[in-house]
Amino acid sequence: MLAALKAGGAALVRRLATRVRLARCRAPSRAFGIDLHVGSRPRLWAPERIEIGDHSYLGHEVCIETNCRIGRHVLIANRVAMVGRRDHDFRTLGVPVRFGHWVGSVKVPSPHRSEGVVIDDDVWIGFGAIVLSGVRIGRGAIVAAGSVVRADVAPYTVVAGNPAVPVGARFKSTDEIERHETLMQQGTFMSSERGFDHFIVRPGPK
Ligand SMILES: CC(C)(COP(=O)(O)OP(=O)(O)OC[C@H]1O[C@@H](n2cnc3c(N)ncnc32)[C@H](O)[C@@H]1OP(=O)(O)O)[C@@H](O)C(=O)NCCC(=O)NCCS
Repeated sequence: MLAALKAGGAALVRRLATRVRLARCRAPSRAFGIDLHVGSRPRLWAPERIEIGDHSYLGHEVCIETNCRIGRHVLIANRVAMVGRRDHDFRTLGVPVRFGHWVGSVKVPSPHRSEGVVIDDDVWIGFGAIVLSGVRIGRGAIVAAGSVVRADVAPYTVVAGNPAVPVGARFKSTDEIERHETLMQQGTFMSSERGFDHFIVRPGPK
């Protein structure tokens, strides 16, 4: 009884911590889904917008510094970064890069202000990966730990390395992909701050 109360209390604290972390997100436009988890010490900033879909997970020290649209059921490991490819102008003659025009400037809008990252549903981004703006990571794709993603990733592709290149496929055939998507659509998935063993994982009927 006491153990259950303690576990419930700890889960409540973790849920509140996510709320506080999301409230500290700095972006003119923000939209967050339900059943999210945000780990400790995140940096969530964007010049225009940050959107995170339902049931997604951001690990510890995730760093978002560009516009992003993160889908549903996305798993973002610890220390993943999403950064603006052209945050700082470094081509203007006579201006040190430190003082080059910055994408976050309100006074002098940057032509790159609207660029960002799109992460579709059911994607896993491994520990420490860096995703540059302008990239779309397709539905169901997997990004290996430590990768630097500079180009779009096709759906259900596994990419790795710097630059991240395809190293495999998540499923064996398009038939399997279709079955996976149907089962997911008809299923119910909810996380629990009590831990993985308390998740609801109910794929649709086979
Ligand atoms: C992407 C991943 C899932 C692939 O696992 P897998 O399907 O077992 O694939 P393999 O280990 O067989 O690797 C396939 C190829 O990709 C390469 N590869 C895998 N991970 C890599 C990485 N992080 N960086 C560079 N290359 C990598 C392998 O060397 C292999 O290449 P090869 O065929 O030339 O030998 C796994 O490597 C990974 O990075 N997982 C993320 C772990 C993580 O971040 N956990 C945090 C908890 S959320």
